[in-house]
Amino acid sequence: MRIFVTGAQGMLGQDLVPVLLAAGDEVIPSDMLPSEARGFVPLDITDLEATKRAIALARPDVVVHCAAYTNVDGAEADPDTAYRVNALGTWNVALACQETGASMLLVSTDYVFDGEKGSAYDEYDVPNPRSVYGRSKYAGEQHLQQVLGQFYIVRTAWLYGHHGKNFAETILKAAAERPELKVVNDQWGCPTWTRDLAEAISRIIRTGRYGIYHATGQGECTWMDFARKIVELGGLNTPVLPQSTEELNRPAPRPRYSVMRNRALELSGLMALPNWEESLRDYFQCRRFTLV
Ligand SMILES: NC(=O)c1ccc[n+]([C@@H]2O[C@H](COP(=O)([O-])OP(=O)(O)OC[C@H]3O[C@@H](n4cnc5c(N)ncnc54)[C@H](OP(=O)(O)O)[C@@H]3O)[C@@H](O)[C@H]2O)c1
Repeated sequence: MRIFVTGAQGMLGQDLVPVLLAAGDEVIPSDMLPSEARGFVPLDITDLEATKRAIALARPDVVVHCAAYTNVDGAEADPDTAYRVNALGTWNVALACQETGASMLLVSTDYVFDGEKGSAYDEYDVPNPRSVYGRSKYAGEQHLQQVLGQFYIVRTAWLYGHHGKNFAETILKAAAERPELKVVNDQWGCPTWTRDLAEAISRIIRTGRYGIYHATGQGECTWMDFARKIVELGGLNTPVLPQSTEELNRPAPRPRYSVMRNRALELSGLMALPNWEESLRDYFQCRRFTLV
């Protein structure tokens, strides 16, 4: 397949491109300010004409749209930018796909849910985002569904990976520098390794079974549980103490319980992602070889 990837220099994009190449696909990576790497297409998705031109020139079978404004707290202070990138940008990519006849996969988020349901969200639950980031991503989902019939929406959560700013590395650094850490213990979710998600995306785009998918690490935990596991696997013994959301006092509201059931993957017989603890162990194995 010929696959155009937006946001290819982001945390997920950098894991996705090699996974697609390993599957034998032709990949056209793009990003806002791409590296000098050969074949990298510079593209600002908020520019409709540029987006149409870039995608028409690439003639992809599918566009995997990872580019996004991902600063959840920043979005509260700058909603226009969040909507310009996550809503209008996704709309533009969908229109470009419509013109060239490509299908499109949008990476979306558990933040489209309010977190008040009290049990796991599946693809048939109705979104009700509470933050600007969540609302702008949901607006992107809606634009995509209005423009294209051949789309996949893949909602994921709590991403960590080797490339980019991520919770695992932030916790390891803090645990090495401080006598103790305090981490939120009243928000539940599903930590998801970008490499597992990349593999799932690679499987989904080959199915032709268009629709909405939840794709997250299996199981659930709080941010504190996640941090404790990171500290343990990192070989440190810094105490990780509970903190409330209220105490942390971040600008954007977060869903309290945004555990995602991956029902569409289950129903369609596609392989689920591994359990989050298993994946975190694999992440640390890889980290030893690549980064340390
Ligand atoms: N991280 C998470 O925990 C999480 C959870 C659920 C869903 N997601 C979704 O997963 C996807 C990938 O997330 P990620 O963590 O890999 O994000 P990321 O590291 O922030 O990568 C996003 C990429 O998009 C680029 N971008 C931003 N504005 C753009 C524009 N106008 N035109 C073209 N490219 C633009 C960014 O470039 P700059 O760096 O130059 O801005 C960056 O390279 C996103 O759609 C996100 O909403 C993430």
